[in-house]
Amino acid sequence: MESLSRRFCLVVTLFLCAHILAAEDLGQWIKREKAIALTALLNNISPSGTVRGVVIASPSTQNPNYFYHWVRDAALAMDAVVSLYEKSNGSEKEKYYCALMDYLDISRRNQTTPNLSGGLGEPRFHVDGSAIFDPWGRPQTDGPALRAITLIRFAHLLMSEGNIALVREKLYDGRIPTDSIIKSDLEYLSHHWRDRTFDLWEEVEGDHFYTRMVQRRALKEGARLARWLNDGGASDWYLFQASLLEGEISKHWDAQAGILRASLNNDGWGKPSGIDSSVILGVLHGDTHDGFFSPSQSQVLATAERIRETFQNLYPINREFIGTAIGRYPEDRYDGYSTGGQGNPWVLATSGFAEFYFRVARELRSKGSVELTTGNLAFFKALIHDNAHDSAHINAHINAMVSGKTVMASDPVFVKIVGGLRRAADDMLVRVKTHTGADGALSEQFNRHNGFMQGATHLSWSYASFLTAIGQRD
Ligand code: NOJ
Ligand code: NOJ
Repeated sequence: MESLSRRFCLVVTLFLCAHILAAEDLGQWIKREKAIALTALLNNISPSGTVRGVVIASPSTQNPNYFYHWVRDAALAMDAVVSLYEKSNGSEKEKYYCALMDYLDISRRNQTTPNLSGGLGEPRFHVDGSAIFDPWGRPQTDGPALRAITLIRFAHLLMSEGNIALVREKLYDGRIPTDSIIKSDLEYLSHHWRDRTFDLWEEVEGDHFYTRMVQRRALKEGARLARWLNDGGASDWYLFQASLLEGEISKHWDAQAGILRASLNNDGWGKPSGIDSSVILGVLHGDTHDGFFSPSQSQVLATAERIRETFQNLYPINREFIGTAIGRYPEDRYDGYSTGGQGNPWVLATSGFAEFYFRVARELRSKGSVELTTGNLAFFKALIHDNAHDSAHINAHINAMVSGKTVMASDPVFVKIVGGLRRAADDMLVRVKTHTGADGALSEQFNRHNGFMQGATHLSWSYASFLTAIGQRD
């Protein structure tokens, strides 16, 4: 009996060691990959052959041609640069400042260049800054929202450094008609958020959870900036529009299916499952830290678990038991080269899930309790279940998890949940690591059968999403 329990201890110790080693490995890789991602991301900003400030989606000029300035991708990439600017100093900071100044220039130019969307919803531009007149899914009104979100963050940093003059000159002049970037985006959004738009995947026309979440955030944070800059009337107007958007966003909950649907009023475009990782991206990019569809909200958790489960069963590489490789949506046929193939897992969706788990953990810790509901129970049980090494012990925990119960921070189950979230997040990063070659290059997708990177190479958004996810880990 004694030797049995000693053997058990040995197994547990070995397991823990293996786990720590694996965790260290991940830590080392993250450090190395971070440096690579930083360089690669900066290489995509104002590369040769483009006007300054252009952020190419990818250097790939054929199969696929991503050598364009996409408003969405650029804003998300520059949001990562704002974070770098915030955390650095000296010549390093100077470098990011210059990149951001160039981004202001191209952004204003994008806003004032006549285009087929007839407004600020034009999704992409040539690398010389001119408009593209080819057929495309337009408008895409998440772009101006994401640009505003990124620049509002930058504006607050500038103001905290005493550079209010620059903010008033280029970012928010408080005038109508305005000649400043953020104010232009807010005016556009506050008057046009009801317009039909293509989704972030550029495929479906209708009303989209992702688009609306980022529009709401832009308006809310814009209202706060406007108030700061004594533009009170505008501030009220933006807030009012944000509250109207909230009513519309809530309609995305499909009680029968038990998920937040990515799109409504989309003329039945071929996505019967309604499962789409863009909902989680919308939660991440649209979070205003006030609980509105925030990461730990019950309907969000229910949706996240359904998305994870769906991809877990869909992609052959997910049979290997590490974090689930996540794609756009199960019906996806875009393989990175053409839409006649099979969709794959995406780096930015898998990294996004890592970030998501980190942020759920953070929210629960700061709240100090978890309310279990019929909606979120499966999510929490999966976290604990996936790491079941001591089944009797775990089963006791799982059995103690019932809907209607509030688990306080002092409860061992709470500790298990938060630990499970951190592990789930790391497992997602292990997934990205597994499919990243020695050179650390990140493409758009990795093949669902063999795991190799494919689609647009050096995708800016892939690097940005990785950097943002590990920023949450720290
Ligand atoms: C087709 C994809 O499905 C879509 O998401 C993408 O934006 C375009 N091709 C452009 O590459
Ligand atoms: C395809 C994606 O679906 C879209 O979101 C992105 O903007 C473009 N590629 C460019 O990266």
